[in-house]
Amino acid sequence: MELLICTHNEHKVDEIAGFLQGYKLRSFKDLAGFTPPEETSLLFQGNALIKAAAGFRASGLPSLADDSGLEVLALGGKPGVFSARYAGEGAGDRANNEKLLKELRGIKDRRARFVSALALVDGKKTIVVTGTVEGVILEEPRGEGGFGYDPLFYVPELGKTMAELTLTEKNRISHRGRALVKLATKLKGI
Ligand code: IMP
Repeated sequence: MELLICTHNEHKVDEIAGFLQGYKLRSFKDLAGFTPPEETSLLFQGNALIKAAAGFRASGLPSLADDSGLEVLALGGKPGVFSARYAGEGAGDRANNEKLLKELRGIKDRRARFVSALALVDGKKTIVVTGTVEGVILEEPRGEGGFGYDPLFYVPELGKTMAELTLTEKNRISHRGRALVKLATKLKGI
């Protein structure tokens, strides 16, 4: 069965693929001429629904969207839904990480969490689930894997940053992995 993953981010597709054996995965990159919707919600769940609904409308395929981000306690939950554009519209991972380090300069409490909201829309049902993982923001990046804020996000139980984990290790504990397990459980119950 075909399933549209509503993103241009190959890292997200790779992570999600680990949970969805047996599906032929497509992404926004396969939709010629498609313009992704604006993510206008202030909630992860809202933006995940916007993306999944837009993907379903454009493709007619069951569509799964992840909206995710980093919430830093000392920053009142920022960057939150603005994680991808923290250092400005179109900012890359490096600029976003540099801005985060700047905002946290001199701050001792560096607790943070990643949040993932997943929305599945297939024309018959709509499912929304969330997953989180808690950690601490380091003072400098460590590791080469993953994407986004992974090199700064230290997971105390594992003694490693997210960027030092293999894909399998990251999927086992990540916000997205946890949300995907919840989604799979809900799908089995239908
Ligand atoms: P979205 O694609 O609009 O959901 O934006 C997600 C943004 O949140 C990414 O660009 C990253 O900055 C951040 N993010 C989400 N998930 C992860 C992750 O697993 N690792 C590191 N950063 C993440």
